[in-house]
Amino acid sequence: MFPGRESVSLSLSGVSITENLMTITADQLRKKYLDFFASKGHTILPSASLVPNETDASTLFTTAGMHPLVPYLLGEPHPGGTRVADVQKCVRTGDIDDVGDNRHLTFFEMMGNWSFGDYFKREAITWSFEFLTGDEWLGLDKGRLYATVFKGEDGIPRDEESIAVWTEVFAEAGLSNGIASEDGRIEAGVRIIPLGSDDNFWIAGATGPCGGDTEMFYDTRPEEGPLSGTFTDFIDSGRLMEVWNDVFMEFEKQADGTILPLAKRNVDTGMGVERTLAMLEGKATVFETELFVPLFQTIAKLSGAVAGDCDLRYASLDEAHRQSTRIVADHARAAVFMIGDGVIPSNTERGYVLRRIIRRMIRHGRTLGIGDGMTGALAETVIGQFSGFYGELASKREHILAELANEETKFRETLERGMKEFTKLSESGISGKEAFDLYQSYGFPYELTAELAMEQGIEIDEKGFQEELRKHQDLSRTASVGMFKGGLQDHDDKTARLHTATHLLQAALREVLGTHVSQKGSNITPERLRFDFTHHAKMTAEELARTQELVNGIIREDIPVECEELPVSEAKERGALGVFEAKYGDVVKVYSAGDFSREICGGPHASRTGELGFFRIAKEEASSAGVRRIKAVLE
Ligand code: ALA
Repeated sequence: MFPGRESVSLSLSGVSITENLMTITADQLRKKYLDFFASKGHTILPSASLVPNETDASTLFTTAGMHPLVPYLLGEPHPGGTRVADVQKCVRTGDIDDVGDNRHLTFFEMMGNWSFGDYFKREAITWSFEFLTGDEWLGLDKGRLYATVFKGEDGIPRDEESIAVWTEVFAEAGLSNGIASEDGRIEAGVRIIPLGSDDNFWIAGATGPCGGDTEMFYDTRPEEGPLSGTFTDFIDSGRLMEVWNDVFMEFEKQADGTILPLAKRNVDTGMGVERTLAMLEGKATVFETELFVPLFQTIAKLSGAVAGDCDLRYASLDEAHRQSTRIVADHARAAVFMIGDGVIPSNTERGYVLRRIIRRMIRHGRTLGIGDGMTGALAETVIGQFSGFYGELASKREHILAELANEETKFRETLERGMKEFTKLSESGISGKEAFDLYQSYGFPYELTAELAMEQGIEIDEKGFQEELRKHQDLSRTASVGMFKGGLQDHDDKTARLHTATHLLQAALREVLGTHVSQKGSNITPERLRFDFTHHAKMTAEELARTQELVNGIIREDIPVECEELPVSEAKERGALGVFEAKYGDVVKVYSAGDFSREICGGPHASRTGELGFFRIAKEEASSAGVRRIKAVLE
């Protein structure tokens, strides 16, 4: 599954896969996959979180099954042994604006099997073929399968071993096994296609474990006759559909671009649940599979409540409305799973991606005539559909619904106000100043103005907007354009948020453990806060959970952080925490978050608690006698 090409690109018309169709549900598919690899000695792992481990700053979300396994691909021993398999929740947001085009999903599930220095090319390829074509497994038509392999480039030789294994596997199945020429032309008899690193070399980001791969494709329209043309033609026309990617990770790419061999050779594979279902069901797109039926039904019901009894089924809508339906469905899945993994809508990083997804979903829902309360109904559908396999959705149901409802209410207010202003703007073009005013005065995100403008064919001066933004940057610390693709806030901003989090933590600890808790030390880096405080015993898991939840509760309330300059005596009187020493002078700054926290401090701080995102205690340990230490992060 090459990043950027994880799409189902069959044309909507001319779908006619009628033979050998399997009726299989997503639940059955996941089970078959895991059963198959368990039978080959693999330990089955639960899906890791969509939020990468704190030590992994390379992406905001888990983007592939291999992502949480990187340390093991680099040589650390895995507790499950040298063979593992799973179905991993993934989010790819780089191409968010493409979602709804029939080809892209934000949230998807990837099935994968791994070898950590155990089996290599022969077993991986043979098992892939067996699972795809075996009668008790997927039972696909062998004759419709094709394989691409790495043709060698940049000093790495052609993958002769994979070519040899495929040649054998196809011959044993009684199939032709010809190898395509250098230009990737497929003619009669060709079944193995060597391609360059753009197609058949896999790496998750800029650096890390990597290697050549072999990808399997299925001919979705055999009735059009034997394949004759270039590989690219068949991909573009949607006739060949990618099914599975077996990556042979034997190198590690360094920051300076050099590629070094890994001590052990690994296998990393990826097979999309949605796409495989489309193929098995003979559907042209993932959106037509059984996976999307419940969501489309909910959407039809929600819009029907407004639109009377017109036919609101997906298939009968015009293309614009179908696109909105796809966006709403995709984003509902993504939002529910993200919140289930601890992401909370905010103006930074992951929280900002989530916020944008929820807001885009609401806006497209609106064009379908869906009013208030849509996120709840959609979330219930997603939870009902997936909680059997992803148990966290059931246990976090209340939390997911509450976060969505909260964000929906806030956004609807913004939306109503902003839309009113937008319609007053000139159709001949929107100036940077106008876009900025919409953002600054009405909280209307720039991306939304740009999207609306694009839909209505109105020009917008993006550069002008950026200039206005820069001018006002000191005033605005929260939203920033370009965050969506994972840009990071500057360090000062992060420090301010961690500073505020430290205050909330101290207040929460005093509530959970008692008022004997007082600060003994504090240290903040851009990544985390460290807080030392007086307490006699190791905190229990329950105390830690309550503390964390208290802080997150205040964050969710999104209360303003207020600063007052007060004489020390008055600060004391009002119960402000802090070290009342001369160095603070006679007049001190007191920062408060509602009645929850009040502390003497020099700042700087976040302006609202909502900017903090999600607060997570990463560690609690002894610091010295009678002093405990907490390390915590904002995510
Ligand atoms: N890591 C490979 C992919 O995501 C298997 O396609």
